[in-house]
Amino acid sequence: MKITGRTKVVGIFGDPVEHSISPYIHNASFEALGLDYVYVPFRVKKERLPQCVEAIRALNMAGVNVTIPHKESIIELLDELDNEAAEIGAVNTVVNTRGRLKGYNTDCQGYLNSLTEETGFDPTGKTIIVVGAGGAGRAVVYGLVKRKPERLIIANRTIERARSLAEEVAERYGSVELVATTLKIEQYLPACHLLVNTTSVGMQGAKGGLVVPIEGLPEDAIVSDIVYKPLDTPLIKEAERLGLRVHRGLGMLVHQAALSFELWTGKKPSIEGMKFTAVQSMEAL
Ligand code: ATR
Repeated sequence: MKITGRTKVVGIFGDPVEHSISPYIHNASFEALGLDYVYVPFRVKKERLPQCVEAIRALNMAGVNVTIPHKESIIELLDELDNEAAEIGAVNTVVNTRGRLKGYNTDCQGYLNSLTEETGFDPTGKTIIVVGAGGAGRAVVYGLVKRKPERLIIANRTIERARSLAEEVAERYGSVELVATTLKIEQYLPACHLLVNTTSVGMQGAKGGLVVPIEGLPEDAIVSDIVYKPLDTPLIKEAERLGLRVHRGLGMLVHQAALSFELWTGKKPSIEGMKFTAVQSMEAL
């Protein structure tokens, strides 16, 4: 990589960031497209976030990605919010236009793009179960409701969180039937077309096992897991054992990155190239 006097700087604000694979994905894509950009990881402590956001302006950075624990707290420090980011209440991408900072959430559209690309699934009129009601769950739920499913079931370990998300979404999207439940979802499985895990269960290093039982799903159902490390999570393995179609988390990771890349550079990166780099860097880390 060649850094020049004109090189534009983007990066990621998070804590921790040591294991992020975003620097690999973006830098490989800048190089592949011959773009004079560099993507740098910044470990940003919670209390330093305001200074770091000001530094985006002061250093004339092109933008940043934002990850745990700053996705929500960064909002009040920005000048403008994209509608989707405002709805979800979380920002994962910031674009700097002459000192004016606008926040976006590319997780939402990234999930949908990946689902469509890999499975061709159209949520319209379908019954969908989303497991988890945290930040990632909110992005996936808001992505899916825009496509007007008939019924959206939000299942969460802590039912109050599922309830408040379901109520909030029902207020905004009146045509979709919203249901909130605990992780005991057996009764909802037979009519389900798509089941998505948005919790961290199954992630390498986290508590293993299956977040929910899926034996009752119909044979044409799709099982989607946004966890990408390991590529084949316990949920994906169980779905394959049952002969169901699967959608792995790597796709969302890459598609959200591709959308951020496009917001900063105006250019579309190669999805296949990004996937290749993501898998390679995960093996190396
Ligand atoms: P993120 O931004 O990654 O979604 P989060 O906002 O902390 O992180 O949300 C984590 C989600 O994973 C929540 O839905 C959480 O359930 P609770 O709301 O009950 O905490 C879920 N989760 C995490 N660990 C879990 C576990 N061991 N079993 C079931 N759900 C779990």
